[in-house]
Amino acid sequence: MSTVEEPTGDQTRVVAIDGPAGTGKSSVSRLLADEVGAQYLDTGAMYRAATLAVLRAGIAPNDADAVAELVSGLEIDLRDRDGDTVVLLDDEDVSQAIRGGDVTDAVSAVSANPRVRGQMVDLQRRVAADRLVVVEGRDIGTVVFPDAALKVFLTATPEARAQRRHRQNLAAGRDSDLDEVLASVNRRDHLDSTRAASPLRKADDAIELDTSALTLNEVLAALTGMVETRIGVDR
Ligand code: DC
Repeated sequence: MSTVEEPTGDQTRVVAIDGPAGTGKSSVSRLLADEVGAQYLDTGAMYRAATLAVLRAGIAPNDADAVAELVSGLEIDLRDRDGDTVVLLDDEDVSQAIRGGDVTDAVSAVSANPRVRGQMVDLQRRVAADRLVVVEGRDIGTVVFPDAALKVFLTATPEARAQRRHRQNLAAGRDSDLDEVLASVNRRDHLDSTRAASPLRKADDAIELDTSALTLNEVLAALTGMVETRIGVDR
């Protein structure tokens, strides 16, 4: 049984960007929001914040009842600070901590929990409806905003995605091994697309864009054009 309610609110200015990890979703969504004067909502950061709390509490990520109970008492908030998204977990800035390998390894189990998803989806709808917003995630066009004005599904080969994550890790000063990153990308793809609750899949009316051979600027230009055509942004 799904705990997710039907969405209410105006979705005519919602841009939904979905796709697996490492397709350049976060980078391009942030730039796109800036380019068209929209708010940016990184829904993966919410699942990561919940996962960090689960790990800190010493709860097994696949203990569905204990995880749902803990997450129902959390306050997760996203704030914009000089163009960067700051993630607050019970008022603590956890923006860095949620990017660690321990959180990345456990987040698929936590985000497969239907009660956690129900709570996050409610929060995402509250934050994002009724405004020009770029919402990035896995189920935005299928579940969170099924009537979004524009839905884009980004893809790229697993190798291209692993290369990107590997470079991001090194640039952020984190240890990284390309083979391990590729294995982690494949593992997360499998978990995210086979879970029962809101599996990762392209919405029927989403525009699919393969970013394997495109630069960030090329992807940004393509998406900006789509927003201008569908929503008609004044700039
Ligand atoms: O985009 P990311 O790597 O920060 O996402 C972290 C995890 O959260 C990812 O494994 C899938 C999950 N997720 C989800 O299930 N639904 C979303 N809307 C966003 C992320």
